[in-house]
Amino acid sequence: MLGIGSDHGGFQLKQAIMAHLRQRGIEYKDFGTYTEASCDYPEYGRAVALAVAAGECDRGILICGTGIGISITANKVPGIRAALCSDCFSAEATRLHNDANILALGGRVVGEGLALKIVDTFLDTPFSGEERHARRIAKIEG
Ligand code: RB5
Repeated sequence: MLGIGSDHGGFQLKQAIMAHLRQRGIEYKDFGTYTEASCDYPEYGRAVALAVAAGECDRGILICGTGIGISITANKVPGIRAALCSDCFSAEATRLHNDANILALGGRVVGEGLALKIVDTFLDTPFSGEERHARRIAKIEG
């Protein structure tokens, strides 16, 4: 189960990503926001991050205007490795090297076509499992 959330700045892109996930047959839980009304990104960033950290969701996707505020929020939750990506190279690398468990996107930064490719890359790339990367990830939590 994938967790997905956004503020108003990411609402439109969230709708497009959810339609794409349905097309791919990927189950998700939408943590909101559910309208385009102005709202506070930490509410949604924290809700998805807590669900991923608790194991309720395997991975998450978070979207705000830039992707910055919502990724900063998610990364405050222990066990979360949220990666803000605006290109497919970074999305692939963060799965291979960082085993990122949340993808953050900027709804005002990337177009829908690119965003969906980034989502697919993030979802379809496994962690490399290489010892040096596992060692570095372990050091993130201190
Ligand atoms: C909302 O206007 C905007 O600040 C928010 O979506 C995000 O970009 C914050 O980092």
